[in-house]
Amino acid sequence: MLLFRDQDIDAKGQIAFSRLFGTLERHPLEVTISHEHPELFTLENGGDRDPFNTAYYHGQPTVGRLDWHMDLHYTARPNHGAVLRAVTIADEDGETGFGDLARAYEGLDADQKSIVGKIEVAYRFNMQRLDMRFVDLEGYEPGPQSPKKPSDIGFPDFADAVYPAAVMHPVTGMRVLEIVEQFLDRVIDPERAGLSEAQADDLLRDLVDHIRKPEFHYFHTWQSGDVVLWDNWRFMHCTTGTRPGVKRLINRTTIGAGDVALGRVLKG
Ligand SMILES: [Fe+2]
Repeated sequence: MLLFRDQDIDAKGQIAFSRLFGTLERHPLEVTISHEHPELFTLENGGDRDPFNTAYYHGQPTVGRLDWHMDLHYTARPNHGAVLRAVTIADEDGETGFGDLARAYEGLDADQKSIVGKIEVAYRFNMQRLDMRFVDLEGYEPGPQSPKKPSDIGFPDFADAVYPAAVMHPVTGMRVLEIVEQFLDRVIDPERAGLSEAQADDLLRDLVDHIRKPEFHYFHTWQSGDVVLWDNWRFMHCTTGTRPGVKRLINRTTIGAGDVALGRVLKG
């Protein structure tokens, strides 16, 4: 994950810079694609989409908060990376967190590494946060317009995506702990690794607690002119969201996966 401060670049400059790292990919969520530059994905707070992105956390209405995830993880073909460029920033509000899952893997003990090397985990795409099994739901309430099904915001339906719990990074060869809280659902055939369903769920809860440790995290407070580039095959990210009415615009370009699929789509 790299941060470049004080960059005086426009949309075209962002696209040209991003292309240095691979072919750019469009996002399946059509409504957020910029009409002028289809390679740009606009992450906007304080705009038309706020009602869909607002939920309550301990009574506080919050716009655009997202749990730890990797982009396009639910497709089994996460994109290689992405570039974020601050267009409009909201002082102190709307941080982006990054978490290093290669360091998280290194931080496991020998027994955990052994079991993680034997299992596959399934991710189930779901619009309703209440239905995600491993996110922290304490104090959470959906907003009145929170989407309930993928078609509510123009998304297709996705079959479950399955990954080895430790993925070999295609470029660096490092082991990456393929555990993020968003959409995480279950261990596939846990009995093959000698686990009952309940033990498998306990293991996933422990692993989610592990990736939530602050020692693996960096939370970025945005400044005008900031450009961030990250490796989506290694880092998870999250957003803290903004208070209602706060204007914030970040433009994202997405560096495609090429031929690389880190996971597989579960058929039937
Ligand atoms: Fe994301």
